[in-house]
Amino acid sequence: MAIKTKHREIKDGFSIDSTLFDALAKMEPKATHQFIPLTWKKAVDFSVWDEHGNKWIDLTSAIFVANAGHANSKIKQAIKDQVDADLLFAYNYPTEIKYKFISKLLEISPKHFNRVTLLNSGSEAMDITYRLVKQYGKARNKKYIVTFTGAYHGRGLSNELISGNKEKASSWSGISDSDIVFLNFPYDEKSAFDVSQLPPADQIAGFILETFQGWGAWFYPKGFVNEIYALAQKHGALLCFDEMQAGFYRLGPLYGYMTYGEEIKPDIIALGKGISSSLPLSAVLSREDLVDLDPKADLHGTHSGNAVCCAASLANIEFLSSAEEVQKRTKTNAVFTSELQNLASSPLIKQVNVRGMIAALIFHKTEEASRVVRGCIESGVLPVCTNRESIKIAPPLTITEDAIRECMGVIKSFL
Ligand SMILES: Cc1ncc(COP(=O)(O)O)c(C=O)c1O
Repeated sequence: MAIKTKHREIKDGFSIDSTLFDALAKMEPKATHQFIPLTWKKAVDFSVWDEHGNKWIDLTSAIFVANAGHANSKIKQAIKDQVDADLLFAYNYPTEIKYKFISKLLEISPKHFNRVTLLNSGSEAMDITYRLVKQYGKARNKKYIVTFTGAYHGRGLSNELISGNKEKASSWSGISDSDIVFLNFPYDEKSAFDVSQLPPADQIAGFILETFQGWGAWFYPKGFVNEIYALAQKHGALLCFDEMQAGFYRLGPLYGYMTYGEEIKPDIIALGKGISSSLPLSAVLSREDLVDLDPKADLHGTHSGNAVCCAASLANIEFLSSAEEVQKRTKTNAVFTSELQNLASSPLIKQVNVRGMIAALIFHKTEEASRVVRGCIESGVLPVCTNRESIKIAPPLTITEDAIRECMGVIKSFL
């Protein structure tokens, strides 16, 4: 049945399939074709269109990237200006645009960070984070890295070694690292930080935490991160956050770790996704004493700090940090939270996790979550399908109040 509203349009006869998806499946690995077959023709602000003119309210930000809205006009203009300046790429030579971007990133970030390492992907930023912790540990005779089960830190051996759990971590490679200690993730909000699970505290080089656990937007219980921070401070261990999904105002403040308390000053944070709202760029924020421990370390690559990506990212962080956008989000974040909390009364839902503009509905059954995702897509609302007992909801931070209410109404109808 056709649907046409202010923010959605689904034409008669619509079904979830894509000839492009099928054509690409003949040329790309199967593993990259486990996603929803929906062709994206155009994406502007919080709307996505397919090739037939069907239009969705985007609750994915295309995997937590488009914080400033898809095809944000300020970002587009910055990309065009950089292209017209005839400087697309300059390897690791200094460029004015890289200088401007790094300066702005440090200006808006807490002052205890004074070094920025630019990279291309979240996985690379996490690989450098792992390396910095190892390097620090080696210099101080501390060997353990403590992380949490169920986390995802990206592709590549180092990231796989700290993702999932002890058994699963990089099981395909047969390589393991006995110095990595997995603690159980505290899904229960009453969980206390259990020091008995830890190796000797003075031998811990660092804690690496996903700011919240991805698949279900699970946050650490109140006080939990503060206890880790206190212990790390006491014993000289580093505290690092993987801010890939949480950074750039997704949870409200600039960085997601800030929602655990003003006193927390991490040593390293890894940034990506919403850093540009568009082109591939990532960064590690840290301190001079950490990054310069080994001045010869291989911390950059061919495309690190690409000029066009820096231009897009500078425009992005200027846009997201502007007083006007901060003010708008105070209102929309509040509406988002209350609308989400309203969904908690459904008998299909076990729990609703929400903070800032990220939420997850935790279902009792995976099949119910999949059914609701399908219903939403057929009705012009695009949530994040996790292929497990959760649905994630993370619209561009520019979404309007009426669009939030409209899509929550759709989700409610399928619950
Ligand atoms: C928490 C987290 N860390 C790291 C990554 C890896 O980032 P990328 O896919 O840009 O390499 C992701 C990607 O989804 C992520 O969600």
